[in-house]
Amino acid sequence: MVSAGSVITIEAFAKINLTLEILGKRLDGYHELRSIVMPVSLTDTITLTSTYAQTAMTLTANPGVNLSHIGPIDKNLAVRAARIIQERYHVNAGARIHIHKRIPIGGGLGGGSADAAGIILGLNTLWQLNRPCDELMVLGAELGSDVPALVHGGAVLMEGRGERVCGLFGDTPPTECAGFWLVIANPGIMCSTADVFKKWRGGLTAGPSILHNMSSSIRTSDVSAAAEALHNGLQPIVYAEYHGVAQTAAHLREAGCLGVLLSGSGASVFGLVRDEAHGQEVSRKLDSGLWHVLVHTCPVV
Ligand code: C5P
Repeated sequence: MVSAGSVITIEAFAKINLTLEILGKRLDGYHELRSIVMPVSLTDTITLTSTYAQTAMTLTANPGVNLSHIGPIDKNLAVRAARIIQERYHVNAGARIHIHKRIPIGGGLGGGSADAAGIILGLNTLWQLNRPCDELMVLGAELGSDVPALVHGGAVLMEGRGERVCGLFGDTPPTECAGFWLVIANPGIMCSTADVFKKWRGGLTAGPSILHNMSSSIRTSDVSAAAEALHNGLQPIVYAEYHGVAQTAAHLREAGCLGVLLSGSGASVFGLVRDEAHGQEVSRKLDSGLWHVLVHTCPVV
């Protein structure tokens, strides 16, 4: 029995793709992917209150996060996540959702997907559904390609359309993993994921070495090796189409990042730095008019 007025708060983590290989186009129109995804310490805060009324959502945002990019509330991934859970499990309750957004919208950092994943996990607890994570990941895949990875959490290998997700290190996760510091910058441009994928015409992949080199750099926390191993098959398309994104990447490189990569399908770019102090030094060199944030990758498991 769900009691009205129960409240829980969830931090929904943004993600970066340290590698994103596009392996081909599928018959269903999507693309076959292989990607290493890691959550980072930039979060949206979700507050869920159980009600007897219909599900409704309100939003607030940090300065620099443009809520006008959100689109109609009814189509929002977070609201759709709540409704799908409600329907699938015949829940006789509603939820009041409030999201405080810090993750740039449409920025390739999985903000919408992170919120949807947070809602799925949060309502599983709030409504005492006790559904296993695997089942919630399948449900998440109905909402978007990045959602299963964020329901799973930790460093993951994402394959297929995005629906095949497993922990990057399987049964042998590193006992200690310092992770990486990085500076994320967003030029305030919206890149349409669908348009970017549509322009993909095949390209170079370096075979299994991309995956192998990045996962061993994460295992050993070797940031220089990780900087060498960064790969995003969508990057040439986005840099060619959106000058502002390429320029933002150049600013991160000039400010001293060890390696710079487009995040997902953009428009955010991130630069790996040696440590927190190096990240602060890089941040000081960036124009204060450019939205940027210094973050750390979350634990691998
Ligand atoms: O699944 P999601 O809604 O996040 O995907 C947005 C768009 O990105 C899809 O409509 C599709 O055009 C493209 N996409 C793709 N292959 C993937 C993931 C996304 O072509 N694996």
